[in-house]
Parts: sequence; structure tokens; C-alpha cells
Amino acid sequence: MKKKSEVTLDYLDECHLDKSLEKMFLLVASETLERFSLGKCTISLSLISENKMRNMNKKYRNIDRTTDVLSFAYLENDDEMSDIKDLGCILIDPKRAKKQAEEFSHPFKRELSFLFIHGILHLLGYDHQNEEDSEKMFALQNEILNNLTIDFYTDQKKLKKELKIAQSMAITPYSHFNVGAVLITKSGEYIRGFNIENSSYPATICAERVAIYSAYSRGNNKDDFVAMGLITSSNETSTCCGVCRQVMIELLPSYIPVYIYNDKMDKMLRLTVKDMLPYAFTDEDLKS
Ligand code: THU
Repeated sequence: MKKKSEVTLDYLDECHLDKSLEKMFLLVASETLERFSLGKCTISLSLISENKMRNMNKKYRNIDRTTDVLSFAYLENDDEMSDIKDLGCILIDPKRAKKQAEEFSHPFKRELSFLFIHGILHLLGYDHQNEEDSEKMFALQNEILNNLTIDFYTDQKKLKKELKIAQSMAITPYSHFNVGAVLITKSGEYIRGFNIENSSYPATICAERVAIYSAYSRGNNKDDFVAMGLITSSNETSTCCGVCRQVMIELLPSYIPVYIYNDKMDKMLRLTVKDMLPYAFTDEDLKS
């Protein structure tokens, strides 16, 4: 059996950013390398200034301008005596990352992670010299980024507050089981839903679907959603019904987290949309 990867990060922050970033980068490295069987390995990461980046780009690539990320692989001169593989060194200019994050209107940490994953894939031999290679590299890069267990978007405090409001709006004269749902979008919207019951019982609609349909009716698309929250009247973290899971797998990205709270909000379960409906029936089945 091939050994999994176990990475050590040799981290240097010359720009003196938030100390918690080191932990984030380590998690990004391990979740990226988890997909490859490399055994024990190390990666160096340095956050450097624009000036230094420009000098490095000039010195090693003969390109006289700055850039966002540079990778230098050490694979060729691997130390035969050691069982720890040194994958190489990655340089990132965080100031430039910040600018790019603002341009794309996404969180700074997401951009840093994106650049780091890009750098790691270069160390592993991926490249974007031609269209085919570039498609392969970018597809894998996005896949890794989307499936990180790090959530760059959700403010749990705000989510909890919005969930309580949504739950309080539930219309439940029959079950008195109040459910609140909140969908979070990339642009920072928190869209509420709640269950609405009817004396003709099957006409009842669940909170999840109210939130999803409401979000779509405001003009959002599948790719706009970054997380979902749920709260029910239960003492436990009770999950979604089958019909909602089917709607969720079709109308939400399958990799987004779903945070499920119990009524008191002292218990939380984190699942992804795809965790909730394995072997789902989708539009792909209709085509095959
Ligand atoms: N309910 C939801 O809102 N979401 C679910 O996923 C499970 C059930 C609602 C529907 C109904 O109003 C009440 O809970 C009892 O089934």
C-alpha cells in the first residue's frame, strides 16, 4: 500500500501578517497533498514584499516584473539519505494577493490559499504552458480549493443570529416544529427561509426549499452559494428531509458546507451537500 502524505511547513512571513495564517497554510498544504501519496514531505513558504518578488523573478526567470506567486521545485536534488521529501519553495506576495482578492471580490484568505495551491501543484510538476495542461491544472486547483475544510465566507455569529430570526418566522400551526434555514452567497447575503405548513398537509414546504427558492428568485445562481445553515426545534442536530436533499444537490454546489444547529445552538453538525445524499439521482442520470 502506498503511504499517504504528511507535510511539514517551513514558514517565513517577512510581511508580518496575522500569525493565524500559518495554521491555514499548513491545512491547505495537507489537504492538497492528501491527494498524492508522497509520504513525509516538507514545503517552504515565504511571504515576501513586492520588491523582493520582482528581484526573484528577474534573477531566476529573467522577467523584470513582479508577480503573485513563484515556485522552485527541489525534486531533482532529493536527499537520498532522508525519508523526508523536500518538495521545494513557494514565494507569495501578500500585498498583490490582497489586490487580486479585491478585484475578484473574494476573501483575502481565499486568494492566498488559491495561490498556495497553485504553487504546490507547480512543485508537483503541473504546468500551464499549453491549453491541455493548463485546463488540467486549473480544474484540479479549483477542485482542491472548493473542497477545503476551511470556510472563507461564513461568519458563524451572524449565521446563528439569522437562523434564530428565520426560525422565529416559521408558520407551524400543526407540528410546532420550527425550522430556520439560511443560505449564504459569495457577495455576503444571508437569505432566510422557514417552514410554512398548510391544513392540506402535503402542501407544506420545508425551510430549506423556501430559502433556496427565495435565493433563486432574487437572481442568484448555483455558483453564488458558499454555505447553508439550519436550525430546528430539536434538542439534537436533526438533518434535512429527503425531498430537500434532492433539491439541494441540484440547486446548490455539492461541496458547500451545511451547518446544522440544534434548538439551543449548543450543538452543531457540519456536513457538505454531497455528504447528505450519496449516490444521488441527478440530471446526469437523465442523459445516460
Ligand atoms: N421540515 C423542514 O422544514 N425541513 C426539513 O428538512 C424537515 C422537516 C418541516 C416541515 C414541517 O413543517 C415540519 O418540519 C415537520 O415535518
